[in-house]
Amino acid sequence: MARLEVTENFQGITFPGHLHTQESLQGALSFQFQDTDTLIATYPKSGTTWMQEILTLLHNQGDETMSRTVPNWARAPWLEQFYFSEVMKMLQAPRLITTHLPYHLLAPALKDTKVKVIYVARNPKDIAVSFYHFHKMANFLPEFGSFDEFLNHFLEGSVSYGSWFDHVRGWTKQMTDNVFYITYEEMWLNLRGSLERISAFLGRPLLAEQLNNTQKHCSFSRMKENPMVNYTTVSTDIMDHSKGPFMRKGKIGDWKNMFSEEQNRQFEEVFRTKMMGSALQFIWEAP
Ligand code: A3P
Repeated sequence: MARLEVTENFQGITFPGHLHTQESLQGALSFQFQDTDTLIATYPKSGTTWMQEILTLLHNQGDETMSRTVPNWARAPWLEQFYFSEVMKMLQAPRLITTHLPYHLLAPALKDTKVKVIYVARNPKDIAVSFYHFHKMANFLPEFGSFDEFLNHFLEGSVSYGSWFDHVRGWTKQMTDNVFYITYEEMWLNLRGSLERISAFLGRPLLAEQLNNTQKHCSFSRMKENPMVNYTTVSTDIMDHSKGPFMRKGKIGDWKNMFSEEQNRQFEEVFRTKMMGSALQFIWEAP
């Protein structure tokens, strides 16, 4: 299958051209948020789709109808993607919006709003592995010859969507009352507690039964089977599931199956330098 190699270069970052245009990227920067909006901000492969599903369920008191009938991108559209303004016409407040943009690009649009931001972070070794596999099946991302080659680009920040280090540092410097920080690993280790924390942040208390339903529908196995979130409805020339599923493993610590000792050493060195002075802690393996 031929690759859709076109990329958009915007503010020093490359974005897949099949989803982004200069206009859509520029439009994101001046978007007029409503105070009732909730924005999911993530670096790719951090648990974006998982959070979209969680918030859909929380907004619907645990009822799965919407998550079973509307694709994730139509209920929590990406602010910077080309279809955004069309989809927004159909959404009613309170709206869910998703972004992979770095904080510094959105800061002016978010200033003086009461938008609730949920930032999901994940340990970057697992992100690198997940992103590498995603590059194989997503025809709109460039192809890398080997994991080693991909990892070098990841550490350098010269991959689509930019540097993970810049992304996580940029967003987490802005920890106001309107920004909620959670990790993939926290959700994985304690989904129920995470749901309670998120619903408290959103001011949407749910009954135990509704939380039970939310928890059930947001499990990896349920989501893997749900065509509205597993991207099986997307055509093969965009995502080729014969090369690997979007809902791949859903684990903590899969990097251990992929990293050589040398790659791990190199990663740790770059991580130490780039995260110097940051208080962020990551869970690298399941207990
Ligand atoms: P893996 O490739 O490690 O399996 P994003 O939505 O940001 O692109 O992230 C995708 C990653 O989140 C994939 O990781 C996917 O399997 C994982 N994921 C999605 N839903 C999940 C869930 N309910 N539980 C655990 N992991 C999940």
